[in-house]
Amino acid sequence: MTDILEVEDLHTSFSTLSKKVAAVRGVSFDLKQGETLGIVGESGCGKSVMARSITRLLPAISSKIDKGRILYRGEDLILKSERELRKIRGKEIGMIFQDPMTSLNPTMRIGDQIIEGYGLHYPKVTKKERKGHALDLLKRVGVSEAGSRLKQYPHELSGGMRQRVMIAIAIISSPSILIADEPTTALDVTIQAQILELIKEIQEKDGMSIMLITHDLSIVSGFCDRVVVMYAGQIVESASVEKLFSAPKHPYTHQLLSSIPRLDLPSKRKLHSIHGSPPDLSMKIKGCAFAKRCPHAMNVCYDRKPQNYRVADNHHAACWLFDPRMEKQEQTR
Ligand SMILES: Nc1ncnc2c1ncn2[C@@H]1O[C@H](COP(=O)(O)OP(=O)(O)OP(=O)(O)O)[C@@H](O)[C@H]1O
Ligand SMILES: [Mg+2]
Repeated sequence: MTDILEVEDLHTSFSTLSKKVAAVRGVSFDLKQGETLGIVGESGCGKSVMARSITRLLPAISSKIDKGRILYRGEDLILKSERELRKIRGKEIGMIFQDPMTSLNPTMRIGDQIIEGYGLHYPKVTKKERKGHALDLLKRVGVSEAGSRLKQYPHELSGGMRQRVMIAIAIISSPSILIADEPTTALDVTIQAQILELIKEIQEKDGMSIMLITHDLSIVSGFCDRVVVMYAGQIVESASVEKLFSAPKHPYTHQLLSSIPRLDLPSKRKLHSIHGSPPDLSMKIKGCAFAKRCPHAMNVCYDRKPQNYRVADNHHAACWLFDPRMEKQEQTR
C-alpha cells in the first residue's frame, strides 16, 4: 500500500503570555491508501492538536508548528498558503471534529452548511444540483425526512443526527483522507455502531483513508487496521491492531489496555488505573515522558529519551527496554 500522508517529526506548540505549551513533540507516522489508522492516548496527550496541525486548523495567534513536515501525496502542507490549504480542506482531506454542536454553525440551515464547502470546490455545479447532492448524501448517512432536515438548524436535530450531518459535510467532496476526531463520543452505543458502519461503507466504496481518534479501545480493535499510541505529545508505540492488542510492548500501552473492562475475567476484578498524571507539557521533559509512572523505569529512562525501536515487523516502541544493548545485558547476566 502506498503512503498518502507522511508526518515527519511534527512539533506544535501554543504560546500564552506566561508559558509555552509543547503539545505535539516530534510525532512521525504514515497513513496508507485505504487504511484505517487509530490514534489513542489519554486526554491531553495531543491527539486533536496533531490532527488539527495536519490541516492547520489551529488558533492562528497562539499556535505554531515549530518543526516538521506533513506530506500529503508528497507535498508538504506546512509550506502551503492559507489559500492553497482551503482547496485541500474538505476536498482532499475531510474532517469530523470532536464536538458537532460547536463545529456546526448555529445560525445556518443544515442544507446550506452541507453545500457550502462543496460549492467552494465545485463552483460550476448549479445550486439546484448541489442541493440534490446534499439531499442524496443526507439519505446516505441515514438521516430520516432528509428533505425537511435541509431547512432545519443544528439545535433542531438530535446529537446522532448532528453527527450524521457532520459526516455528510466531511464526505460531500469525496476526500481521499477522513480525519475523524472522536466522531461518536457523545452518542449511545447503537448510534455509535451505525455511524461507524456508515463510515466503513463509505470507505469501502470510495477507497478513502481514515485517521480515527478515539478513547474507545474496543472501537479501535473492531474498526482500525493499525494503531498509534500517543503519550505526552509523542508516539510511544505503533503496530497493527492484532499485534498491539495481542502483544503490546510499551509499558504505557500495557497499562492502557489493562484499564479496559474484560468480560472473560471475574466481574469482581478491580479495573486498573494508571497511577500518577501525565507531565506538564509547558515544561521540558528529560528522558522518557512516561518514566515517572512506569513500573519498569531504569536510571537511563529519567535521563535520556529512548529511540523508537523496531520490536517486530511494522511494530515500533519508544522504550529503553527494547534497546538492543539492554538485551545483551540481560543475556550476560
Ligand atoms: N488552543 C489551545 N491553547 C493552549 N493550549 C492548548 C490549546 N489546545 C490544546 N492545548 C493543549 O495542548 C495539549 C494537547 O491537547 P489536545 O486537545 O490535542 O489533547 P487530546 O489528546 O485531543 O485530548 P482529548 O482526548 O481530551 O480530546 C493539552 O495540554 C491542551 O491543554
Ligand atoms: Mg481531542
